[in-house]
Amino acid sequence: MSTTKKKKSISTKKKRIAPPKGKLGVLLPGMSGAVSTTFIAGVEAIKKGLGKPVGSLTQMGRIRLGKRTDKKSPLIKEFIPLCELDDLVFAGWDIYKDDCYEACLKAGVLEKELVEELKDTLKQTSPMPAVFSRKYVKNLNGKHLKSGKTKMDLARQLIGDIKNFKKQSGVDRLVMVWCGSTEVYIQAAAVHSSIKSFEDGLKNNHPSIAPSMIYAYAAIKCGAAYANGAPNLSADVPALIKLAKKNNVPLAGKDFKTGQTLMKTILGPGLKSRMIGLSGWFSTNILGNRDGEVLDDPYSFKTKEESKLSVLEHLFQPDLYPDLYSDVYHKVRINYYPPRGDAKEAWDNIDIFGWLGYPMQIKVNFLCRDSILAAPIVLDLVLFLDLAQRTGFDGIQEWLSFYFKSPMYAEGLYPEHDVFIQLMKLKNTLRYIKGEELITHLGLDYYNLM
Ligand SMILES: NC(=O)c1ccc[n+]([C@@H]2O[C@H](COP(=O)([O-])OP(=O)(O)OC[C@H]3O[C@@H](n4cnc5c(N)ncnc54)[C@H](O)[C@@H]3O)[C@@H](O)[C@H]2O)c1
Repeated sequence: MSTTKKKKSISTKKKRIAPPKGKLGVLLPGMSGAVSTTFIAGVEAIKKGLGKPVGSLTQMGRIRLGKRTDKKSPLIKEFIPLCELDDLVFAGWDIYKDDCYEACLKAGVLEKELVEELKDTLKQTSPMPAVFSRKYVKNLNGKHLKSGKTKMDLARQLIGDIKNFKKQSGVDRLVMVWCGSTEVYIQAAAVHSSIKSFEDGLKNNHPSIAPSMIYAYAAIKCGAAYANGAPNLSADVPALIKLAKKNNVPLAGKDFKTGQTLMKTILGPGLKSRMIGLSGWFSTNILGNRDGEVLDDPYSFKTKEESKLSVLEHLFQPDLYPDLYSDVYHKVRINYYPPRGDAKEAWDNIDIFGWLGYPMQIKVNFLCRDSILAAPIVLDLVLFLDLAQRTGFDGIQEWLSFYFKSPMYAEGLYPEHDVFIQLMKLKNTLRYIKGEELITHLGLDYYNLM
């Protein structure tokens, strides 16, 4: 992961985008979970006209082209060639063998009546046995597992699964999105530094290679674009980034930006834009789904906590604004509370200060639904990563930072967390791909000043 040394001017020439011909295979580790099942059932419901794809930029978003006076804002999906929902085919793995219908009922996110309407379709999809170890997710104990002497054996089995799926389903292209549980906290180490050291680590069962890395490795080896919806490292290590570049595979991650952190990256830039100071931000959550149960283990929580905490540091840039942001107390808590299921409740107490340092407070109480917010993100990532691959983009796709709490970024940069900059980056990337003029919002030309 290195930044380009030579300065290149941005070409306004249209990129060649291969058309989205044929079917797109969507591979989901964590297929029986709340996010995966809400995503799959949601897509099927939308295809049947039983609901609208609310929250999805690819389905409902528009993009302005040219000047404001041109009044040209087509739907994104009409502007750029994206795969149609009818062409998605799902497959995945889980440590529980429930088919998609049973898993969806157990997740309890969607109403029973809706799930019943989709029963015949959902029944047709069941997860394959997973690569899993309780060393990396302590609070789960499923039995639908692969076995193998080494992590390389397990990777080869996943590669076999992917190849079989491709052959049997006739899909032309593949995207994998990690919707599995949050793994324990692991730091990047020497074993992750090169493709060779990583492959040796797979053969030697290195403890710093977690299951999510084995899935990412298998995806990249099969030419599948890969996104990580959880905060664990997974593909965010030099070895896998290098492998992705070598195999022309786009990567994105980490950790879907859904509820509380989405609010943080909406509110934070607003406060900072007015030079309002911040002395503390206390965030707490109650949630009762399986994700909450996994995060009840301190080792998995540590991974999530790091991801959630990193946001404010980069948003507020205390090194540039020491008077306003050098002494911020930031605390994040997640409490497992079963009665709530997927309907999470998040509270934020934000201590701010204004003119002459006078203190004020903001309280946010967000009663959200985690998987309802995450499902459209999975859809957009699938469609945009497929677009990226058809456009010839590989390695880290920073323009997809919009969807993540801990965006992946190239060495020498810092991650961009401001949701408004992230959206501008995403839309300008789409304009760039199509050879359209980038929009800077300068606007002087409307006043004859240019
Ligand atoms: N829902 C959100 O708003 C949100 C936001 C950010 C991140 N996430 C992350 O997305 C992931 C999915 O969330 P969820 O609410 O669906 O959780 P969930 O617990 O309902 O689903 C996770 C699924 O992954 C399975 N799993 C665990 N390890 C696996 C492995 N090695 N191989 C295959 N399957 C495995 C579990 O059995 C479970 O079915 C979690 O890591 C969560 O932290 C969710």
